[in-house]
Amino acid sequence: MNKELLKNTVAHLMSPGKGILAADETPSNIGKKFAALHIENTPENRQKYREMLFTTLGMEEYISGVILQDETIYQRTKDGVSFPEYLKDKNILSGIKVDLGLEPISEGSQETITKGLDGLGERLEKYKKYSAKFAKWRSVIYIDSETCLPTEKAMQLNAKGLADYAYTCQLHDIVPIVEPEVLMDGNHSIETSYKVTSDILDKLFKALVEKGVFLEGVLLKPNMVIPGLMCANQVDPGIVANKTIQCFRENVPAETSGIVFLSGGQRDDLSIKHLALMNQHNDLPWKLSFSYGRALQRQALTAWKGQDQNLQAAQKAFLEQARLNSLATLGQIY
Ligand code: G3H
Repeated sequence: MNKELLKNTVAHLMSPGKGILAADETPSNIGKKFAALHIENTPENRQKYREMLFTTLGMEEYISGVILQDETIYQRTKDGVSFPEYLKDKNILSGIKVDLGLEPISEGSQETITKGLDGLGERLEKYKKYSAKFAKWRSVIYIDSETCLPTEKAMQLNAKGLADYAYTCQLHDIVPIVEPEVLMDGNHSIETSYKVTSDILDKLFKALVEKGVFLEGVLLKPNMVIPGLMCANQVDPGIVANKTIQCFRENVPAETSGIVFLSGGQRDDLSIKHLALMNQHNDLPWKLSFSYGRALQRQALTAWKGQDQNLQAAQKAFLEQARLNSLATLGQIY
């Protein structure tokens, strides 16, 4: 494990005013977004869509890294440059989603464990040849008061899976992004979100330390502490920011130098505002930035609609979201 290399990658990804574009939707996941806009879900259209994003002039001012996916890392621009090489020329690091999706923790269970530990080392070596410098693994924690979720077992299994993945990445000099996502689906309160987020973060960091993961060479990709999407009692952005910071101060060791939030289905404006308000807190032990999928792409995809004549409008929309999120990492709201 080359700790200096891992620290350098983290430092690059957490460069001031920059964050990560999560463009690692699987073909079936991006297909759902395409279907809503009547875009055919073909490899060609997926390539065109990613090329539209990556060739946006000026994105490198706001974006330090892009998370790719097993199909995308091998794709090329229309001029024949591989996406990782193209991004590297813009001083943007390529990352790769290495988990293989979710499966029930036991037959009939609503809860899931993330697949992909088998053969992970070989996959990392393959992706390294395609310039991958960091990786992502997503675990999902579900809240459901009627069925008493999450269970202790699901949280323990997912924390352990994330730790095993993170350790393997570091052995291959790849920075792991660990993502224990507490879903916003449901009508739970912000207090419940706090309790569950706190619990999974506590278990995750215990598992990471027990496994011997080098915390300065990890990025945490968490949800914010926020009410469920169907909760009748939505709260002010300041409350989300304060509760999230409080929860993280209690559970995230200071050596974890970078936290990059997921947007998780929040409105674009709120994901920006929450991040900006959190970054207005003084003396935070870690840097806070974004690793957004939907909140960076939603408007660009809607403007693009799969049509070449919309390329400029789509890139303009993407660049503006990236700019606003960049300002949010500096605590500024516009
Ligand atoms: O794993 C989740 C994605 O990388 C982030 O997606 O910002 O749309 O929640 P999101």
